[in-house]
Amino acid sequence: MRLSVAVAVLAPALSAYASNILVLLAFSPSNVTANVGDTVTFQFQSKNHSVTQSSFASPCTPLAGGVDSGFQFVAANAANIPEFSLTISNASKPLFFFSKQDAVVNECQKGMVFSINADPNSAKSFAAFQAAAEASAAPAASSSASSGSNILVLLAFSPSNVTANAGDTVTFQFQSKNHSVTQSSFASPCTPLVGGVDSGFHDASKPLFFFSKQDAVVNECQKGMVFSINADPNSAESFAAFQAAAEESAASSSSAPTAGASSGSEILVLVGQNNQLTFSPSNITANAGDTVTFQFQSKNHSVTQSSFEAPCTPLAGGVDSGFQFIAANATALPEFSFTINNAAKPLFFFSKQDAVVNECQKGMVFSINADPNSAESFAAFQAAAEESAASSSSAPAAGASSGSEILVLVGQNNQLTFSPSNITANVGDTVTFQFQSKNHSVTQSSFASPCTPLLGGVDSGFQAVTPDATAFPEFSFTLNNASTPLFFFSKQDALVSECQKGMVFSINANPDSAKSFAAFQANAEASVAPSAKASKKLQRKHSRDFASAAKVARK
Ligand SMILES: *[C@@H]1O[C@H](CO)[C@@H](O)[C@H](O)[C@H]1NC(C)=O
Ligand SMILES: *[C@@H]1O[C@H](CO)[C@@H](O)[C@H](O)[C@H]1NC(C)=O
Ligand SMILES: *[C@@H]1O[C@H](CO)[C@@H](O)[C@H](O)[C@H]1NC(C)=O
Ligand SMILES: *[C@@H]1O[C@H](CO)[C@@H](O)[C@H](O)[C@H]1NC(C)=O
Ligand SMILES: *[C@@H]1O[C@H](CO)[C@@H](O)[C@H](O)[C@H]1NC(C)=O
Ligand SMILES: *[C@@H]1O[C@H](CO)[C@@H](O)[C@H](O)[C@H]1NC(C)=O
Ligand SMILES: *[C@@H]1O[C@H](CO)[C@@H](O)[C@H](O)[C@H]1NC(C)=O
Ligand SMILES: *[C@@H]1O[C@H](CO)[C@@H](O)[C@H](O)[C@H]1NC(C)=O
Ligand SMILES: *[C@@H]1O[C@H](CO)[C@@H](O)[C@H](O)[C@H]1NC(C)=O
Ligand SMILES: *[C@@H]1O[C@H](CO)[C@@H](O)[C@H](O)[C@H]1NC(C)=O
Ligand SMILES: *[C@@H]1O[C@H](CO)[C@@H](O)[C@H](O)[C@H]1NC(C)=O
Repeated sequence: MRLSVAVAVLAPALSAYASNILVLLAFSPSNVTANVGDTVTFQFQSKNHSVTQSSFASPCTPLAGGVDSGFQFVAANAANIPEFSLTISNASKPLFFFSKQDAVVNECQKGMVFSINADPNSAKSFAAFQAAAEASAAPAASSSASSGSNILVLLAFSPSNVTANAGDTVTFQFQSKNHSVTQSSFASPCTPLVGGVDSGFHDASKPLFFFSKQDAVVNECQKGMVFSINADPNSAESFAAFQAAAEESAASSSSAPTAGASSGSEILVLVGQNNQLTFSPSNITANAGDTVTFQFQSKNHSVTQSSFEAPCTPLAGGVDSGFQFIAANATALPEFSFTINNAAKPLFFFSKQDAVVNECQKGMVFSINADPNSAESFAAFQAAAEESAASSSSAPAAGASSGSEILVLVGQNNQLTFSPSNITANVGDTVTFQFQSKNHSVTQSSFASPCTPLLGGVDSGFQAVTPDATAFPEFSFTLNNASTPLFFFSKQDALVSECQKGMVFSINANPDSAKSFAAFQANAEASVAPSAKASKKLQRKHSRDFASAAKVARK
């Protein structure tokens, strides 16, 4: 289903998606209605805002598990305009958002809030939400807060078109950046009209058309930054037709400066597809004007720009999606996009997540326009990222050396076991789980909730192994912090709850502490129904037996 775009700065034609609502930061429009499958794209045009989900009850507080673009800083001379998108999966649920920036002013309390599908006739309307956000301001600040128009910057004229009478004065207030108000004609939307005016209109019978002639970073006219006075909405020369004409002129002239690079196509990159530490595809070529959209599909990754020289270090001034956490019950997959401005320059990226494993050093990197035949190919970049593991992860680990491989068998001899069931490991050690039977998982949990996936924890996903399998799948990670005990379980519960059957595992649990492996396993088993307890004990015995067997096998 197609939705009308109230204020569009990005030509909708760029999009491969069914329907896009473009929202300018300043949140313009301030509220939208969207259907299931619609994508809402936030384009960060200036300063340093965020799109952070909150709730009606707490407008200026991040919602646990909600989406969050992170801070998106846009330098005055920014080469890339970052975007953040989400796709609606439930249109009957209103969603609320704010900018969490509060370094200079508290933007939320200045009314910089946004809603999707808030019912204007309900108690939880957008207006009520914004009022609540503003009311949360300090009394002194709120009295003068007139909705914060001073901090809001649109790549747009607001309103985009007006009706004026003879003698009316139209005043343009320049609120940001470096725009112009330049009169053009309906026929040539992006060309200054010879003798065009800026103010003081005397003939109300004649429609007037304007654009911003800035094209240093983006061609603002072709992005729809146009304006009209007295354009008849019912005529062929309506504001809408004028804006469409301006945007259409993009194709022709934007290809000119980019040396043959054409298009403006959308390239989709999946981040963490099938729970893997991957960008899919891992490397692309793109033309100037192409939009690269990253869709986060699992876990808690980022798309963070780095450089060939320092693959796992954020590049100063580079783009960064921030961490995007995907809950198992996520109802929307967040997206992050930017448009390529210069196809001659290779761009390098990584996921900066390193809470459990250092994902960059695991090769979770991505490139755009890296020349496969040069020294700075994607393959060389990935190799450099992986090699930085040895040096940098062992260095900060204060004496913890090694980098040894520890093998854990999952479901050995068709049993519901990890073998061994608990290990100690050093920083830099890689723990490899080999799935030997059935359909288990290695899913991180916590001591307190043994059978519940930990938000942001590692998860192999289900790994099914047929009885006649000729290869066993493996899942690995490298330890970053040896002083934090880590707890895991198999989340399979189709026939029996394997966790409650004692199929759990730990790394670096102190056997002499209250959080020993034994206590963890007892916790897991205690969550089982009483009737199932008898068979459980037997299972535990097996678990120990196979643990011992595997330890021997490792030597
Ligand atoms: C959509 O959200 C509404 C309101 O929160 C909820 O009642 C409903 O179950 C949800 N529908 C689906 C398919 O998740
Ligand atoms: C953006 O704002 C955040 C929060 O105020 C701040 O930590 C960060 O340094 C800012 N980024 C830049 C590049 O100014
Ligand atoms: C919500 O958005 C609509 C346009 O999408 C606008 O007309 C309306 O004024 C907005 N509501 C508020 C309270 O700003
Ligand atoms: C404003 O933009 C114009 C055109 O790109 C440029 O020539 C001028 O230097 C800019 N002014 C400032 C103050 O950046
Ligand atoms: C022209 O401006 C009016 C408000 O002045 C607005 O309602 C209308 O949507 C605008 N037309 C277009 C095509 O944006
Ligand atoms: C997802 O699950 C968490 C905890 O299990 C819960 O707090 C949250 O409300 C759920 N979210 C949705 C959208 O169902
Ligand atoms: C991505 O990099 C690999 C080398 O790791 C290379 O074989 C492949 O051709 C590249 N793919 C693209 C689309 O550039
Ligand atoms: C995502 O990862 C970051 C960095 O490790 C962490 O600070 C954040 O709490 C994680 N988010 C969730 C919801 O787990
Ligand atoms: C390792 O984990 C411990 C306990 O959670 C924490 O106090 C410490 O700061 C962590 N060390 C590093 C280097 O992250
Ligand atoms: C593995 O188990 C999961 C969860 O029970 C199930 O959805 C999936 O279909 C199973 N895979 C196979 C190949 O049986
Ligand atoms: C593993 O757990 C068992 C208790 O189930 C305990 O006896 C053993 O010492 C633990 N081994 C290690 C290496 O922590």
